[in-house]
Amino acid sequence: MRVGIFDSGVGGLNVLGVCMRMLPDVLFYYYGDNIHAPYGSRTPAQIEGYVRAALRRFSRLNVQAVVLACNTATAVCAERMRREFAVPVVGMEPAIAPAARVCTNVLVLATPLTAHSARLGALLSRFPDCRFTVCALPGLAGAIERHFLRGEKLTLSDHLPAGNFDGVVLGCTHYAFFGQEISRFYAAPVFDGCRGTANRLTEILSATPGKQIFGQNDHQRPKHNPNKCFIKNCKKEGEKRIIFLGKRKNLNKKVFFANICFT
Ligand code: DGL
Repeated sequence: MRVGIFDSGVGGLNVLGVCMRMLPDVLFYYYGDNIHAPYGSRTPAQIEGYVRAALRRFSRLNVQAVVLACNTATAVCAERMRREFAVPVVGMEPAIAPAARVCTNVLVLATPLTAHSARLGALLSRFPDCRFTVCALPGLAGAIERHFLRGEKLTLSDHLPAGNFDGVVLGCTHYAFFGQEISRFYAAPVFDGCRGTANRLTEILSATPGKQIFGQNDHQRPKHNPNKCFIKNCKKEGEKRIIFLGKRKNLNKKVFFANICFT
């Protein structure tokens, strides 16, 4: 089986890692549109065009499903892409449901397009007993992208709003690289949608639709103290299971193997 995973840049690598852990027999294509990232500085029409181009490319590769590993692209055009393409399109959804299950005062961090989307508004309205503070971060996804691709220094506190919360939802796949740091900053658990999306993909591939389970930020990242042997094994297996596409494919590959654990 073959699956295409798409993001504006490096953020979707976090989703790729979780999907690889859950689906060991799938060949993954990863297409990061780093050339046009961050999508925060693009119009919805532009984003739709980029996503359409990616989906055409994946369709030519005869994938069985596509994951929009980008909350912004999902918010902007997932429904339209589902109408246009025959291949199943799995979207990204901020992990509001798992956060609302265990928290009462939740900060939702997202790009402006996701934060102001009708899709997020509808999702939040399903949890009236939880208080949500939605914060649009115009610069963080781009800063993370530049940090990984160009080695630019990243100071999270320049981007994160102050406040006291008992849970934080990471509504952008780029933020998942810094889940631990964001959790420490707020002294609160963080929730991302990577696992929920991987669960949904698994359901689609096994053609047994059922209840969607959302996960939280539970994947390990051997970033601060990388175990070289471990990474070497990961790399060996990963080389066989992922094909990176796009103009920055080598950079995405490098970022993936240096930061994501999928075994
Ligand atoms: N990873 C994308 C998301 O989940 C980042 C969007 C951007 O490039 O601004 O929203």
